[in-house]
Amino acid sequence: MQAETYYRDHWLDVDPDRVGQYEDMFRWRPEMAPMLAAAELAQGQTVVDYGCGPGMLSLELARRVGPTGTVQGVDINETFLERARANAAGEGLSDRIQLHRIETDALPLEDGSVDRIICKNVLEYVDDPTGTLRDFHRTLRPGGLVHAIDSDWGMLAVEPIGPERLARIFDAASIAYRTPLIGRKLRGFLRDADFDDPVVSIVATADTTGRAAPILLNMAKYARESGRLDEREIDAFVSNVKTSVEEGSFLLVLPQFLVTAARP
Ligand SMILES: C[S@@+](CC[C@H](N)C(=O)[O-])C[C@H]1O[C@@H](n2cnc3c(N)ncnc32)[C@H](O)[C@@H]1O
Repeated sequence: MQAETYYRDHWLDVDPDRVGQYEDMFRWRPEMAPMLAAAELAQGQTVVDYGCGPGMLSLELARRVGPTGTVQGVDINETFLERARANAAGEGLSDRIQLHRIETDALPLEDGSVDRIICKNVLEYVDDPTGTLRDFHRTLRPGGLVHAIDSDWGMLAVEPIGPERLARIFDAASIAYRTPLIGRKLRGFLRDADFDDPVVSIVATADTTGRAAPILLNMAKYARESGRLDEREIDAFVSNVKTSVEEGSFLLVLPQFLVTAARP
């Protein structure tokens, strides 16, 4: 993979183990409900799940919009979409979830045709966040809401790794993110895309169980593939993460920015 396009290519070429890992990591849990509150989801709505992956969020959105609503899931990766199709069928929700593969960062949907666009942990990977948000603006009906949920990798804290070592690993891994500080930048990008008054809030939880450790193991993989850091430093990082999970000393905090705006 080329370093210049790695942020996109690593999503196009995902190995099967990683797909299962993402299903576990992104599975919807009731305690995640505050992440969706500002989206004001309701029965009967047409809702886009942009960058739906294996469809873990799409399932929850389909429950929220009910039998009269529709979820339009889009992603660039066909393997994820196949998993999303299987997961929708497994939950008996296929009739309300339509899935589309996209090759450009544009929605295959009519102007003004949707009530909500939800985009969770995806905008850090798109070529041009403002361009993508302009396309969201085109697709939303007047008064419709875009609701983006994104990390800000500059705010990641991991113990017992500490900030200096983490910064070295992240610096090498940063080829995997087009806009790693997307969280703090989202409000500005939405304003640039002609949304009025984006509202910003943050949710943060501390993972002490290791459920979020795959984030760090993926980061180590990206750092390795970048060729920018000594392999021994990456090996020591991976071993430290795994040992701290086993010993119970692991802690990871990655605040999530929730940014909501209406199409005027
Ligand atoms: C971190 S996962 C998030 C999955 C899902 N939104 C969730 O939270 O459960 C990122 C997803 O974005 C997709 N993706 C990456 N670049 C994309 C792009 N330019 N347009 C649409 N989807 C993209 C990936 O294939 C992957 O499914």
